[in-house]
Amino acid sequence: MKIFEEIESEVQSYARSFPRVFNRAKGEFLYDEDGTEYLDFLAGAGTLNYGHNHPIFKKLLQDYIESDGITHGLDLHTKAKGEFLEAFNEKILKPRDLDYVMQFTGPTGTNAVEAALKLARNVTGRENIITFTNGFHGVSLGALAATGNSHHRGAAGTSLHGTSRMPFDGYLGDDVDTTAYLDKVLSDSSSGIDKPAAVIVETVQGEGGINVASFEWLRNLDVVCKKHNVLLIVDDIQAGCGRTGTYFSFEEAGIKPDIVTLSKSLGGYGLPFAVVLFRPEIDQWKPGEHNGTFRGNNFAFVTAKAAIDYFWADDEFSKEIKRKGDYVADRLDAIVEKYGEGNFTTRGRGMFRGINCVNGDLAAKITRKAFQNGLIIETSGADDQVVKFLCPLIISDENLKKGIDIVEQAIREVCAKEDSMPEESDYFDDVRVAS
Ligand SMILES: Cc1ncc(COP(=O)(O)O)c(C=O)c1O
Repeated sequence: MKIFEEIESEVQSYARSFPRVFNRAKGEFLYDEDGTEYLDFLAGAGTLNYGHNHPIFKKLLQDYIESDGITHGLDLHTKAKGEFLEAFNEKILKPRDLDYVMQFTGPTGTNAVEAALKLARNVTGRENIITFTNGFHGVSLGALAATGNSHHRGAAGTSLHGTSRMPFDGYLGDDVDTTAYLDKVLSDSSSGIDKPAAVIVETVQGEGGINVASFEWLRNLDVVCKKHNVLLIVDDIQAGCGRTGTYFSFEEAGIKPDIVTLSKSLGGYGLPFAVVLFRPEIDQWKPGEHNGTFRGNNFAFVTAKAAIDYFWADDEFSKEIKRKGDYVADRLDAIVEKYGEGNFTTRGRGMFRGINCVNGDLAAKITRKAFQNGLIIETSGADDQVVKFLCPLIISDENLKKGIDIVEQAIREVCAKEDSMPEESDYFDDVRVAS
């Protein structure tokens, strides 16, 4: 561990919560140098939807490397890129009746967001972007201006501009439709909100604390955008690629955003990869305007195509995610009911779920305790008050139950220590995942 303390920057974050040296991973498990096994409910912050080192993807990648397939090709046409585009078009876009072109950006989510914001601004000739409370879109300056979190914003060292913040769904209480406020300010030439180029939204705010926008709210947002001739950008970097139960998180709302950002699990294997999708009519880029040495990652093309072929050729995987998601929801509801003392609440959609412990210290104690018992799980939210369940979507029923059991035990122990709920749980024995 010494070398990390000696020369790795203080900027480390996850490493502080899980201070071990990891050297092997498989499916839903990580292993440290001593061979200790950990269930991974962090999953690369949503990058490992298909688990660590999926054997089929690994074999294809090994074969590709063995055959001297292109590793780096700038934005040259490569066979691997062509095959990925073909698979994405045939199995993801066409069945959903989505007519998008794809832009390969630098390989991080934040770079895809930068590209989306630039495109919207250039196409409309307007600067302002509507963003939402608790939204998280990345930490490069453009994306950071669209991000709410003060810890991240504070690190910018310069002014963050070109955005206006609106209340997300539920921010002002369950009874307030905040899209009505957006409609009002966009209709009022004296509202002080400059006419925006676009609205950027997460359908489920991941870093912001698993805040779920209702389908109705998303539809209303779409209507308001269309009414005011404003582009709708869905940032599906964390909620996309199946996390909520469908490939794109906006599908069930029945909306078709103008622009979509994807990254994280898109590459399938944890390889860096990001894209922006948009309607062909707004493809007004000039060659190389949004440049980058690592636009497109040929290894990721191979594994991204494999993920599409293997998991998304029909709706079986989607049904599985929903089944497991329902199980997680039931278990979390029961845990909150039993130990939450009326304070804890659950939230989420599909396999994107959380327990709001209200208090960040309490949530940290719970995740620390869970780690001692072999589970890697993190928190999110403005005060890190939400314990965030983000396990690989391919997790077995047995290990899903095991991971939630560990959290339940951690909550029971932490709450007992806090002197709030000393009662023993018999829940472990009662609940089985539906097969
Ligand atoms: C919704 C969303 N957008 C953008 C990003 C930024 O992605 P990256 O960390 O790859 O830059 C994240 C990262 O967590 C995210 O959750």
